[in-house]
Order: sequence, then C-alpha cells, then structure tokens
Amino acid sequence: MANSLQSLFFIVPVLFLIPYKVASTTHHHHHHHHGLKTLHFSLYQQETINKTGYVIVNGVAGPGISQTTTPFGTIFTFQDPMTVTANRSSKVVGIAEGTSITSSLDGLRSISIAKITLSMKNYKGSLSILGGTHNIKPSDHPVVGGTGDFMFVQGYVTSSPVDLKGQTVVYKIEFHLYWPPYAIQASS
Ligand SMILES: *[C@@H]1O[C@H](CO)[C@@H](O)[C@H](O)[C@H]1NC(C)=O
Ligand SMILES: *[C@@H]1O[C@H](CO)[C@@H](O)[C@H](O)[C@H]1NC(C)=O
Repeated sequence: MANSLQSLFFIVPVLFLIPYKVASTTHHHHHHHHGLKTLHFSLYQQETINKTGYVIVNGVAGPGISQTTTPFGTIFTFQDPMTVTANRSSKVVGIAEGTSITSSLDGLRSISIAKITLSMKNYKGSLSILGGTHNIKPSDHPVVGGTGDFMFVQGYVTSSPVDLKGQTVVYKIEFHLYWPPYAIQASS
C-alpha cells in the first residue's frame, strides 16, 4: 500500500527488527529499533448479525448465507465494538466500521474496507485498513493510514475467527503497527 517513496524509507530500518512475540491480550509492546517505532497488541471484534452487521445487498451466485459463506457479490456493512478480551462483556476500547464484499465464487472470501477508531490509554485515533478476508482462516490486511496518534502508521492487522457460532461472531484482531522514521521526527 505504501507508495514507492515511503518504501524507500521503510525497507532499510525494517531489516533491523528483531522478532517479536504477539501479545495475546491488550498488553502493548513498544520498541524503537533504529528509528522504527512499532506497536503490537490485540483486540476482539464482536459482530452481531442483524444488530451490528447487516447484509445490505444480496449476492448473486454460489452458496447461500451460512455461518461461513455468503453468495458472491454480497455487500455486508458493520459497526462492531472492539473489546479487550474475547468475552463480549469486556471493556470496549474501539469500534470497527466498514463493509465487505464477497469476492470469491465459493463464498468464503471478501474484500474488506474498515476504519477502526481506537480510544486506548496511550493511543487515540483511527486506522484505515483495506484487504482480503477469508471467512474461516486468518487474514492479513494492510494498514493504509491513520489519524491522531496513528498518523503516518503502516503495517497490517491480522483478523482470525475465534467464535463463528451463535448470533455474535468474534474475531481476534492483531495489530502490527510501524511508524517510519520521518513520522517519529515529525512528532518529536
Ligand atoms: C437477519 O435478517 C434477515 C432479514 O430480515 C433474515 O433473513 C435473516 O435470517 C436474519 N439473520 C439472522 C442470523 O438472524
Ligand atoms: C464474560 O464476562 C461476564 C462479566 O464479567 C462474566 O459474567 C461471564 O462469565 C464471562 N463469560 C465467559 C465465557 O468467560
């Protein structure tokens, strides 16, 4: 998603990144490696069919609507709370607003566009993501930009289904965020 100028700044420092462990909770990891600031944390997206997410346009081909499939061309729109644990009674620290369009004829994949607004202790702002989602496997979505404390952010979010049964489906969203060196200079 990054343009070629951003990539030039980005590729060199990323080589120095040491492997990190993905946090399984909202515990935040901040690192500075040669000017590349990173942040890793996880939240849970709670989607309740016909309450926080709706089919807006019916698809035209392929399997019918099930827990894991939607017909090709289905447009689904959501405004889902993001909680700190998989339990939907846990604290809400964000909201994911977006839409997905079923893009594979087997009904399992879609193209997703979302704005995730976060209000956490040290970080407030939004992230915009765009990418392909697989209904039953983890998917990486590139972060295309951000606002507020997420200004200039790059990286990706990994969305994994946790619980696809029942009225509320839960996805674990792992954030892998990177700020390029010019963003650090701009904010300090
Ligand atoms: C959601 O609403 C639609 C339209 O009223 C209905 O056909 C569908 O069965 C509902 N889905 C669930 C899971 O309640
Ligand atoms: C979810 O949280 C609520 C409120 O704290 C608690 O009563 C419930 O047992 C929890 N559910 C699970 C499955 O842990």
